[in-house]
Amino acid sequence: MNFLEQLQAHRSIRAFKSTEIPQPVIDNVLHSAIRASTSGNMQAYSIIVTKDDARRKELWSLHQEQDMILQAPLLLTFCCDWSRMNQWCENSNANPGFDNFLCFMVGTGDTFIASQNAALAAEAQGLGICFMGTTLDNATPISKFLKLPKHVLPITTLVIGYADEKPDLRTRLPLDGVIHQEEYQSYSDDDISWIFDKKERSGWDRYMTYPDLRERIEKSGVQNLAQVYTDLKYPKNGNVAASLELFDLVEKQGFFNHQTETKSADSAAPSLGVEPPLDSPNMDD
Ligand SMILES: Cc1cc2nc3c(=O)[nH]c(=O)nc-3n(C[C@H](O)[C@H](O)[C@H](O)COP(=O)(O)O)c2cc1C
Repeated sequence: MNFLEQLQAHRSIRAFKSTEIPQPVIDNVLHSAIRASTSGNMQAYSIIVTKDDARRKELWSLHQEQDMILQAPLLLTFCCDWSRMNQWCENSNANPGFDNFLCFMVGTGDTFIASQNAALAAEAQGLGICFMGTTLDNATPISKFLKLPKHVLPITTLVIGYADEKPDLRTRLPLDGVIHQEEYQSYSDDDISWIFDKKERSGWDRYMTYPDLRERIEKSGVQNLAQVYTDLKYPKNGNVAASLELFDLVEKQGFFNHQTETKSADSAAPSLGVEPPLDSPNMDD
């Protein structure tokens, strides 16, 4: 399979063999992860490797008991990490300003990009992967378990191993439903019906093939796929509760320091969100 074919054959794997992954294969995954682009080449992330059975079991319970974690031999937790950069700056008599919301966003982006590189490298070597959204839902206990210091936050986790299933490709919205030429085109209700038509039918049919889910759907009185998303899978109460907890953790980990040395933030000063002018020497290193 060439690289484009691999990208387009992606499916998440949720059943794994217990077969060990040779260390050179893992090393390729990790080297590929750290080859990802990062803002200012600061690599504002860390990757925590978990192989130990007992520790995987602990993480399984912190990831809402998703059984694939017990099956697959490798878990990678990707963390937004400014602590290393801060320490280097402080040791070098430099005054870091990376403890704010912008840097939290930038570091989170860097972290996700590195994790996708790892996922692709794993798939390129015949491994299966699944991301764990439960990393953010349970970021507080996961941080404690992994002993994350200040300025470090868990963002996502990859479960990696040899697949014990070959699921069908999941549908995607049609390309024209997600791409905008030159400027954003707002959607009419007809556009929305057209864009979600295939997903609505195939998603509903797929859920109905799982007896547990079918029973939950039937008991709840949910009528369509959108209601499965809003009422069963991701209800607002749960999202708000998880948001409040995450917000507290982000603050506790030191990402909301918006004090400046002058009276107010200087919008003319360069920031991580601003590229250096094109005619300046490349300072992106
Ligand atoms: C950030 C992120 C978090 C995810 N979390 C979970 C998860 O906790 N459990 C799970 O089974 N799948 C999880 N997934 C996988 C998605 O459900 C999957 O990518 C999506 O349904 C599309 O299916 P596909 O990857 O097979 O194409 C996650 C994916 C992403 C990108």
